[in-house]
Amino acid sequence: MKEISKLINLPKILDSRGNLSFIESNNHIPFEIKRTYWIYDVPGGEKRGGHAFKEQKELIVVLSGSLDIVVFDGEEEIKYSLNRSYYGVYIPNGLWRHMENFATNTLALVISSTTFNESDYIRDKETYKAYKKK
Ligand code: TYD
Repeated sequence: MKEISKLINLPKILDSRGNLSFIESNNHIPFEIKRTYWIYDVPGGEKRGGHAFKEQKELIVVLSGSLDIVVFDGEEEIKYSLNRSYYGVYIPNGLWRHMENFATNTLALVISSTTFNESDYIRDKETYKAYKKK
């Protein structure tokens, strides 16, 4: 079965002192965490992450601010508009995605199933479409 992207509602511990959310490998997300990275200080109007990964599965959490994540499977596009830190978008390998419409000071956390490997990227959209047709 083909895996699809999905919105994950993360645990949220409400407290009068403030809220707390968390993510565990193979529990709230269907992979072992190998790396985290974050995207910040994005100038207005910029897009990030226009590419696909052959192996990397990931969860993107908007810790602060807001942005849109657009996921493309070779045929259809889905847009997730995120502005709460207790939601994450799970993106399995093999999907094209980009992030856009960043509000000022947005902080986006990416939790990845792999360490960094440039050869895991497909950075050209036409190459991606051809890869999906194989
Ligand atoms: P890239 O993933 O292309 O950024 P975005 O998806 O937001 O457009 O990464 C930008 C640069 O940073 C690229 O040269 C690769 C490098 N990089 C690392 O060295 N390690 C990492 O873990 C990541 C995510 C990127």
